[in-house]
Amino acid sequence: MKDQWGREIDYMRVSITDRCNLRCCYCMPHGIPWAPMADILTLEEYAQIVSCGAALGIRKVKVTGGEPLVRLGCCDFVAMLKQIPGIEQVTITTNGVLLGRYLEGLLAAGVDGVNISLDTLDAGLYRALTGAGELEQVLNAIKEAVKSCKGRKVPVKVNAVSLNLSEVAKQLGYAYHGPGWPELLELAKGYPVDVRFIETMPIGYGKQYPPVGHQEMLSYLKRQYPGMERDEGFHGHGPATYYRIPGFQGSIGFISALHGKFCHNCNRVRLTSKGFLKSCLCYEDGVDLRKILRGSETGQRKQDQLMEGMRQKIWGKPAAHCFEYPEHVTEYENMAKIGG
Ligand code: 5AD
Ligand code: SF4
Repeated sequence: MKDQWGREIDYMRVSITDRCNLRCCYCMPHGIPWAPMADILTLEEYAQIVSCGAALGIRKVKVTGGEPLVRLGCCDFVAMLKQIPGIEQVTITTNGVLLGRYLEGLLAAGVDGVNISLDTLDAGLYRALTGAGELEQVLNAIKEAVKSCKGRKVPVKVNAVSLNLSEVAKQLGYAYHGPGWPELLELAKGYPVDVRFIETMPIGYGKQYPPVGHQEMLSYLKRQYPGMERDEGFHGHGPATYYRIPGFQGSIGFISALHGKFCHNCNRVRLTSKGFLKSCLCYEDGVDLRKILRGSETGQRKQDQLMEGMRQKIWGKPAAHCFEYPEHVTEYENMAKIGG
């Protein structure tokens, strides 16, 4: 359906857990309390909400977390979503640690795309930044995913938050110099994967890490790769701007939420792990669908209430975020609770 500004809202991000097997410093540093399991929706409850979303025009779903693969039954959930009439595409964003174990299950369930988050290729910094992660494991996951997904035309993408890695390393007490992100590009050289940089958004612990502007990154990269030019090819329905580098198999994408504000094209809503539907990342506003789901109404009346709550929030979606005025940001939850 369209929102009040005429944008077609057809994409829902669904966070199926606030838990994660890593502790990225900008997302979920050590010591963050998790919500009690009873507060987190069951997979059937998420699916019920997605069904209502589909009736309102949602066509694409991204399964996120926390880390979605730590939620038992994640592959079955993908299969469940794929069976909902109207849902055309189900993709997943993972840190890759458990991907080796679940990749076949996800593909069998019909997953349409796999995004792997990776912010540095320095093994020591990766361990410091994620609190626990083994870089080798994620690199293997990327390699395996590329191999298995290729014949099935399932795109694999790598997402990197645009961090000033020297600064982050300093804060973490790890010795590291250099911007760090040029190396990540090499993944798009060696593999047919798009590498996408995401400007750090001032949400939760992300506020402590000033974003590296994409204009700055782009001019640096263009000096290093003079043949780099805009790639107008189709890469999905997301907000990334893509570039190609001669000799590279994948493209380089920039998701510049702050410096290249793309709100006028925004097509998404977000469902948190507790069943709260948010229409914009920047504001705490939303509708508590869990309350309706677990309320006293039953059958069609419950369904009608869910649909009405969702319709109102989608229609009332704000025109734009206000990340450039941090004092106006009202969202106080952590990214892991919202799902990125
Ligand atoms: N800004 C941008 N991206 C973030 N992520 C987590 N926190 C932030 C933030 N503050 C990313 C993760 C992962 C995705 C789910 O969201 O790195 O790629
Ligand atoms: Fe986990 Fe992703 Fe948050 Fe890192 S960014 S702690 S991998 S949810």
